[in-house]
Formats: sequence, C-alpha cells, structure tokens
Amino acid sequence: MSKKRSIRIGLLGFGVVGQGVWKNIEKNRLALEYRLGTQLEITQVVVKDASKAREVLVPSGSYSEDPARVVDNPAIDIVCELMGGTSKALELTRRALEQGKIVVTANKALICEHGEELFEIARRNGGHYFYEASVAGGIPIIKTIREALVANRFKLIFGILNGTSNYILTRMEREGLSFDATLGDARKLGYVEADEALDLDGIDAAHKAVILAYLAHGKWVKLEEIICEGIREITGEDIEIAGQLGYKIKLLAVIARDFEANKLSVRLHPALISKKEVIAGVDEVYNGVSVTGDVVGTTVLIGRGAGQDATSSSVISDIADAVFMLQGGASAVISEEDEATHQILADGLELALGDELIGRYYLRIYVRDEEGVLAKISDILAKEHISFATVNQKELEDGTAKLMVTTHMSSEAAITRAIALLNGESSVIGAPVSFRIFDPGN
Ligand code: HSE
Repeated sequence: MSKKRSIRIGLLGFGVVGQGVWKNIEKNRLALEYRLGTQLEITQVVVKDASKAREVLVPSGSYSEDPARVVDNPAIDIVCELMGGTSKALELTRRALEQGKIVVTANKALICEHGEELFEIARRNGGHYFYEASVAGGIPIIKTIREALVANRFKLIFGILNGTSNYILTRMEREGLSFDATLGDARKLGYVEADEALDLDGIDAAHKAVILAYLAHGKWVKLEEIICEGIREITGEDIEIAGQLGYKIKLLAVIARDFEANKLSVRLHPALISKKEVIAGVDEVYNGVSVTGDVVGTTVLIGRGAGQDATSSSVISDIADAVFMLQGGASAVISEEDEATHQILADGLELALGDELIGRYYLRIYVRDEEGVLAKISDILAKEHISFATVNQKELEDGTAKLMVTTHMSSEAAITRAIALLNGESSVIGAPVSFRIFDPGN
C-alpha cells in the first residue's frame, strides 16, 4: 500500500480512555491504516503524574507532564483531549484551537459549558473540534445526526444517555433491590463517576442532551435552563407499580422540537415509558437513542455508552475524520457554511419552559390511612382539572398508606400547583413525588 506522510497524534491525558485509544489503535493498526491510507503515530502522551503506574507502557521519549509538547507542537496534527475536567482542559483546548489545530475530545462537560466558544475558536482559526465520544460512548450518534441523517429535521430525539443510572434502575427492577444496595454494587464495579452527582442527579446525561440539542437544532442551551432530575427519588415500589401498569422507569433525555411554534424542549428526568417502546428495553449499562427525522422516520441506536473500548472506538472514529480533513478529502464535517445553516435552523427558536409540558403523570403520595383521605386528594386534583387514570394503594402497618396514581393528560403547571396543595393537606405525610409518563407519540 502506498503511504502518505504519517499523521502525528498527541494525547492529553492517559487514563482509561487514553490507554484505550492507544491499545485499540495498536490492535487494529493494519486495517485502520489501510482504510485511512496513512500511518498513525501517537508521538506525545501528556499526563499529570508521569510516575503513576499504567497498564499501557509508552516509550519514555513520548511521555511527559508538559502539555506544550502536544498543544504548542507544530509536529502534532491531532490533539486528543482525554483528560476531562473543565479548567485545565478548557485552557489547553482553547490554546490548541487558537493555533488552528484539530482537537478530538470525549469531554461532555467541557462542550456543554464552553462548546459555543470552543467551536467558534475552531472556526475562526481553521481548526476543528470533534466530539463523537462525548455522547453515548461507542454509539455513533453524532455522526448519525450530522451525516447519515443530514436530510432530516428532528422532531424528537430521546433516550438513555447514562449507563450507570440505567444499570441501577435495571437491577432495582429485576432483583427488587433498593436504590442504596444497587448503588453500592455500581460503585464496586467502578461504574459511578468520582463526582456521583453526575450520574445520580442526571447532570452527565443532561450535558449530553445539551450537546445533541446543539447538533440537531443549532441552539446552545444552558444546563441551568432545563429540567434536570436524577434517579434518587425512585423507589422499588414505583418500579413495581409502573411495571404492573405496563411501564418501565428510565432516566430519559428528551429533545423535542415543535416546528410550528418554533419551540425546543430539552430535558432530562426519570420517566415511565411503555414497555412496548424499544428504548424501554435498553437495560443495564447500555445507552439507547431514538431519533425521529421528518424524512427517515424513527431510527434507534443501542450500544455501550461508556467504558474504555466503546469510548475509544468513538475517539478513533474522530481521529479518522480528522485524518480525512488533513488529507484534504471531502469531509462531512460541519464547515463554516454549514454553521450558518445551523444558525438559520435555530433562528428565533425559543426554549420551551418546563411548565409548558403536557402529558400524563405518576404521583406517589404518602398519607394517613384515615376516612376521607382519597376524597380530599381527588378534590385537590379536580381543582386543577387533573383526573385519575389509575389508583393503587399500599396499606402500611403503622396506619399510613402509599397512594400511587397515574393521571390523564394534564399540564405540568397544574401538577406543580396540585403538589403544592397536597403538601399543605394535613392527611398527606411528606412531599408527594411525581414522575412524568413519556409517550413519544404525544
Ligand atoms: N458516567 C457515564 C455513564 C460515563 O455512566 O454513562 C459515560 O459518559
């Protein structure tokens, strides 16, 4: 095979993903280089602590604690930022993009918080910022939306974007385990992020939802502007009752666009979803994304959303795109011109407020098991024009009971007001809990 000049890659960070990139480039080097028509060389690996033992051994000449050897090095063609975090990673990504370099990243928090600025720096300086590995690990969701489904406008994208919380919910459902017991196992297996709130409070999946919303609709949404609720409130009883009613409970990212009203809803929350939906069957640490385009209809992608090999598969895919760019080949990568199109698509697009949601809801209300309680609760709901679809009561031994109800279609604003009224009702103990019921057909 005739070879063009080799492409030199520098890695910033050599943790789980960085070592995976090294390992998997080595593993499939022959096929990869044949497909790309060039040799790949990882010539620099920069780490915070070079004395730390790592599984993958790198030649000492390429190994250092000096990021300048990657970021400011004219001999480096592709910078892979795999260090994570949003401070040092921001500084180094800016610096590399300001020099017109191509940067590949898996850093969802950084893109979510600073993507607008970083993409702009990349465009201004003729570089590029690739981010396939930042959403849904090994699932090629970025390329799918950007390239394969380019003919479409996207009415609805929804799915499971956090493997750890999906693992916890799956085991709670299958084995009847408590949230705490399952969380303990998830920690032992090394699934839970060091900052547990990222997985348990939905922040990690919300970062990914923000990225998908930008990709599909050209609009940057701030994390603080969207509904972001995690899985801590979900109990085994909720999962059990949901199951009896034909639902699973999943932590869902939803990006829904109303083209007529020119509104975009971006949200991340637990939801009851019919077991008949493909996404409801995505269990354990898997991720799944359902994309509905106006031309193609619905496409569902399922795969490993985290882990060394899955994530490095996406990083290497971006490295391949970067190689095509460097070779001057036709690139499917969003160009400045496409960015202008992006802005046209987002023109006048407004973010829908949570209160504007309409749907069915599941409520869990803990009450004193006394005469007339059900009537009082139904009065409160009726005042807000909320009607019961199903009611389950679980009697407890201490004279209390748990009421689990689902509602017919209602507005989120009415549910919020009803919960405030229920909170003030003397027969209600503690704060009622509500989950949305998600129906992709609504
Ligand atoms: N904590 C993430 C998850 C890792 O569980 O999905 C991948 O982004």
